[in-house]
Amino acid sequence: MSDPSTLDELLVCRLDTGRRQLEPCTIVIFGASGDLTARKLVPALYHLYLGRQMPMPFRIVGFARRPKSDEEWRLELKAGLDKFSRTKPVDAAIWGAFAENLHYCQGEFHELAAYARLRQMLKGFGPPELAHNLLCYLATSPSQFGEVAERLYASALVDRSEQRKGWQRLVIEKPFGSDLATARSLNAELTRYAHESQLFRIDHYLGKETVQNLLMFRFSNAIFERLWHRDAIEHVQITVSEQHGVGGRGGYYEEAGALRDMVQNHLLQVLALMTMEPPVSLEAESIRDEKVKLLRALRIWQPEQVAMQVVRGQYTAGEVAGQSRPAYRTEPKVAPDSSVETYVALRVLIDNWRWSGVPFYLRTGKNLPLSASEVRVQFRPTPHVLFAAQCGPKLDANALTLRLQPNEGITLRFNGKVPGTSMQLRPVRMHFSYDAEFGAYTPEAYERLLLEAMAGDATLFIRRDEVETAWGFVDAIREGWRNQPLTAESWYAAGSWGPEAADALLARYGHAWRHPQAPQ
Ligand code: BG6
Repeated sequence: MSDPSTLDELLVCRLDTGRRQLEPCTIVIFGASGDLTARKLVPALYHLYLGRQMPMPFRIVGFARRPKSDEEWRLELKAGLDKFSRTKPVDAAIWGAFAENLHYCQGEFHELAAYARLRQMLKGFGPPELAHNLLCYLATSPSQFGEVAERLYASALVDRSEQRKGWQRLVIEKPFGSDLATARSLNAELTRYAHESQLFRIDHYLGKETVQNLLMFRFSNAIFERLWHRDAIEHVQITVSEQHGVGGRGGYYEEAGALRDMVQNHLLQVLALMTMEPPVSLEAESIRDEKVKLLRALRIWQPEQVAMQVVRGQYTAGEVAGQSRPAYRTEPKVAPDSSVETYVALRVLIDNWRWSGVPFYLRTGKNLPLSASEVRVQFRPTPHVLFAAQCGPKLDANALTLRLQPNEGITLRFNGKVPGTSMQLRPVRMHFSYDAEFGAYTPEAYERLLLEAMAGDATLFIRRDEVETAWGFVDAIREGWRNQPLTAESWYAAGSWGPEAADALLARYGHAWRHPQAPQ
């Protein structure tokens, strides 16, 4: 019998052999005392180091307002890592070696002198590449993105010209603007100080293994791609449900709401990857061109259509997984009469040749019964003869569910004969589980994103026209909501699947939500 490991070796098609070698670099984190740094960035960098994926040598410099020594910063980060690391316990020896590369630079974001200190520090030790290969991670508040970019440029830390020595890149966290106008002006500002090819706009969903797999799944499997259009697909449901409420993020959420926090970025990205045309190559620009083309084909709802196509919801008090939850309006930093949506469901139409007439239902919300992200592709039923004629709606149409998280995998649902002498049909499922197939290796999205940014591959980052097109779509919906407070139909109890109006939205078109199932 052949050795299965050899067989795997033969069958695995490696796409990253031509990948650029990582060059030694310094990662400068602006907002080094913040939550994102402790929770996501440093754990991700530690795991890259653990997996020997960091370039050698490398250096991580934290830039923030509060004075502290390298040692104090390291201790703070270690405490964060112990708490948030995806592998536990943290390996003390590896941490020790990793932490030697962590340095702290105190400074205010507006203070030019602080950037001069940073420059001195970068030149002060280590090989010269570490001083000019710079990945500047802007984990600051969005209002400071422009300022930090301008100061970096003014102090010659970032060079936008072709003659630059080494490379400098800016990684920009979300939210990128709060509407089309602010996103445009932020783009204009950032591109004054850095070239578009130096800007890496984050959408952490693109770093998720299962989200990346959407393209592989679609374009390496002939059987599915042949069915991927309006003739075979009746409708698609994309659900990103979350069990937690807004908790301590009330201040931010009051400015954002579910539409801007989740739909403008994560859900539209998943939709684009599910529906875009095949790119001409796997190059970043080819893939991003197709995503933009798709986003441009989204039908823009006119203000008077919004109420019929988009449902807003806000949670009232309830219970999630046995825990009682307060109403949104009583969460810290939330206005007692807030009309901000914590849930949104919408019908999306794509006006292009492939998808004309196929509804895509998107929904996301906080305090829902389960945390689960999935895409369900509902195929058209068989003609109304033979089994369908006899069973009617009881004969389930085929469906393909791509479970993005948790319980990552893909399930195909089809009908089969119930064994026995009687003639009975019922749906059965074919499962692919990441865990069963590949083991429980699930790197954090940020690990992949940081690696790609260091390698200079922009595939998993959002291009300027992409972010603006997505805002255009979302702005039109917000225009329809202008001066329209939430109504009695908007409330849903924490722990339910959202307002009833969301069920009515699908029912109007003869469809019904299929809720994600809890892992068994
Ligand atoms: C963030 C949103 O972008 O994504 C949060 O701001 C949300 O509100 C989070 O909870 C969801 O990310 P994930 O990876 O947990 O699905």
